[in-house]
Amino acid sequence: MASETFQLSRREMLMSSATTAAVSAIASETADAAPPAQTLPTYKVALTVNGKARELMLDPRTTLLDALREHLYLTGTKKGCDHGQCGACTVIVNGERINACLSLAVQHKGDAVTTIEGLGTPERLHPTQAAFVKHDGYQCGYCTPGQICSAVSVLEEIRRGIPSHTQADLMASPQPTGGEMRERMSGNICRCGAYSNIAEAMADVAGARA
Ligand code: FES
Ligand code: FES
Repeated sequence: MASETFQLSRREMLMSSATTAAVSAIASETADAAPPAQTLPTYKVALTVNGKARELMLDPRTTLLDALREHLYLTGTKKGCDHGQCGACTVIVNGERINACLSLAVQHKGDAVTTIEGLGTPERLHPTQAAFVKHDGYQCGYCTPGQICSAVSVLEEIRRGIPSHTQADLMASPQPTGGEMRERMSGNICRCGAYSNIAEAMADVAGARA
């Protein structure tokens, strides 16, 4: 009974083979064709950068660092590790320093961002920029924009009485001592080792000894 059910004539076998070959050819043709074009969604991000209102259409995966460098062409902010480990990308957002490589641009709708370009101009340097020049607080300069943005924020944190790990008494007002500033600047790496000169520059601005 079973052998009767599955018995194929020679004609049926040839037709079946031809159909299989045709299906394979169509599948292969489809696989070779270019994949359909995909449009990545973009989102409107309106924010203020260095005092100017800016509006960007961005892939939501764009970091704030890439938005600044690749979309607004503010290349003063540097990309070092791109992993939150070197501080080269430090910018000031709403008065606080952050690593721009660790933050998505879409998270900053409506925020006020200050980069190194917004702190001062070559003709009119910010006091911290001027102090870095005076104390030779750099060598290759790659980490310097991040160091300066961080230093500006660190001195402001101390002025506002925000405590750090170095304080035995967290209720006491922090002072701009060398140790205090070194602790707070520990997230900014300088491969050229300009640390002592950076500390001198910050002490100069704070009116204290490094
Ligand atoms: Fe952002 Fe290194 S580039 S921390
Ligand atoms: Fe070269 Fe800091 S000045 S990395």
